[in-house]
Amino acid sequence: MAKMLYEGKAKKIYETENPNEILVYYKDDATALNGLKKGTIIDKGIMNNTITTFFFDLLGKNGIPHHQIKKLSDREALCKKVHIIPIEVVTRNIAAGSLAKKMGVEEGLILKRPLVEFYYKSDELGDPMINADYAVSFDFGTDEQVNTIKTYALKINEILKTFLLERKVRLVDFKLEFGVDAEGNVILADEITPDTSRLWDKDTNEKLDKDRFRRDLGGVEDAYQEIIKRLTGK
Ligand code: TMP
Repeated sequence: MAKMLYEGKAKKIYETENPNEILVYYKDDATALNGLKKGTIIDKGIMNNTITTFFFDLLGKNGIPHHQIKKLSDREALCKKVHIIPIEVVTRNIAAGSLAKKMGVEEGLILKRPLVEFYYKSDELGDPMINADYAVSFDFGTDEQVNTIKTYALKINEILKTFLLERKVRLVDFKLEFGVDAEGNVILADEITPDTSRLWDKDTNEKLDKDRFRRDLGGVEDAYQEIIKRLTGK
């Protein structure tokens, strides 16, 4: 059995025979409230591997470099090994979640333009919000790398927003992580799934994402399946 390099809340990372490649294994575990709420979403790992693969393929075709090499099985994907930049990059089109609370607005307020936020990836500190200056001052990346991350986030937003709207899904917000590969390039990493995004039905605003788990709304698995159906037509 290959050596496990890291276990996160939703995925395990294993080494492979190639030092520049890792194996990502998607789990069914679900957490919310920075790990305080724990549970399982049946077959989430399988669904999230499918969804991430779909989105990364779409983004790759549209010129966004990313870490995924190929899907290996239901729950496994082969990816390039990167040094993860410890920033959670959240891009928002519509106010929801922590933004709606912070700004005292109703969920659903359409933002005048997409908003990109940076959070320092630290469970101990509860992922505090930072900005580009923090990222450079704390040596998470160079000015150029941080600018690249923001540029990619906005480009990814346009690609996904347009694609999803054609499938009657509103891209409310989503979280990305980036890494630096062996050649020193900043590339998209981690996952893009209903765990890490808010996806609402275009006509009814029904939530088709992890907020169903976070807020005990029920129908979590069905919502993830519905996203797969809308993406693939299957
Ligand atoms: P927020 O409204 O709670 O700040 O979340 C914004 C988006 O980022 C939402 O789609 C969920 C995602 N997200 C994560 O993927 N991981 C996290 O740790 C947090 C706080 C949010």
